[in-house]
Amino acid sequence: MSSSYRNFFGFSKEPFSADIEIKNIIQTPEIKAINDRFDYAVTLGSIALVTGEIGAGKSTALRWIVAQLHPSRFRPIWITASTGSILEVYRQILAEFEINTATSSRATLTRMIKKQISELALKRIQPVLVIDEASLLRLEVFAELHTITQFEGDSKPWLPIILIGQNNLADNLLHRSATPLASRIVARRHLESVNREKMDTYLVHHLKIAGLKNTPFEDAAVTAIFQGSGGIFRKANHLARGSLIAAAADQSQTVNVEHVRLAASEIF
Ligand SMILES: Nc1ncnc2c1ncn2[C@@H]1O[C@H](COP(=O)(O)OP(=O)(O)OP(=O)(O)O)[C@@H](O)[C@H]1O
Ligand SMILES: [Mg+2]
Repeated sequence: MSSSYRNFFGFSKEPFSADIEIKNIIQTPEIKAINDRFDYAVTLGSIALVTGEIGAGKSTALRWIVAQLHPSRFRPIWITASTGSILEVYRQILAEFEINTATSSRATLTRMIKKQISELALKRIQPVLVIDEASLLRLEVFAELHTITQFEGDSKPWLPIILIGQNNLADNLLHRSATPLASRIVARRHLESVNREKMDTYLVHHLKIAGLKNTPFEDAAVTAIFQGSGGIFRKANHLARGSLIAAAADQSQTVNVEHVRLAASEIF
C-alpha cells in the first residue's frame, strides 16, 4: 500500500502505529483505574485481572504502568502467553531471568523460579509477573500457576501476578480447576471502548505525535471512524490510516466519510 500519503499530508512518521513510545501513550482515566488495581495487587502480593476487547489498549496500558516502576525497587517479569503447557510458561519466566533450561521436570522448574523470586525478595526488590494474552492459557496452566506464588507455606506473598486477556479470561477463571488461582484475585478491571469525544481526542493525539498540527478529518469522518471501530483503538488506527490513504489517492487534503467507508471495506 502506498506510503506517499505521508508526504501528501506532511507526516514526519507513520501515523497510528502500534509501536507507540511510552511518552506518547495517553494516560486515560482507564489506565489510571488499571494502575490502581495493579498497585493494590502488588501491595498484597496477589493477583489482578485486566480484560477487554481485542485492540482496546490492554497491553499498551500495562506497558505504560510497568514503565513507571522504578528499576531499583521493582522487577517486572513480562511474558506473553501461548497455548502451550505449564512447562512452557515456566520456561518463559526463567528466560526472563536469562535462564534457559531443557528440563521437563515441573518440580525443578518451579524450584528454579522460586529461587529467583526469593533472591529478589532478599534484596527487597519486588517482582511482578505480568502475563499478557492470558486468555490463551490452557486450563491445566490455570490449575497450577498459583504454586509458583507459594513461599514458606503460602505465608510470603512475594510474587504478584497481573493477568491480561480478552473477555473469555474471566470465564476460564470460573472453571473449577482454576479456583486456587482465581481465589487469589483481589482486583479486576474491564477496559471499555471509548466514546465519540474520547475517540476524537485519540485521533488528534496520534496525528500530533506523527507530526501533524491540524486534523484533516472532517467531523463526520471522525463519527464514521468512531462508529466503524466501536470505540476500539486498534480498529480506529486502521480506519484512520486507511482513510488518509484513500483521501491522498483522491488528492483531497480533507478526509471525509467516503474515505472512511473505502478504508472500512479493506479491514475486518
Ligand atoms: N493509551 C493509549 N494511548 C495511545 N494509543 C493507544 C493507547 N492504548 C492503545 N493505543 C493504540 O491502540 C493500539 C492497540 O492497543 P493494544 O495493542 O494495547 O490493545 P490490546 O487490548 O492489548 O489488544 P489485544 O487484545 O490484541 O492484545 C496500540 O497499538 C496503540 O496504537
Ligand atoms: Mg495486547
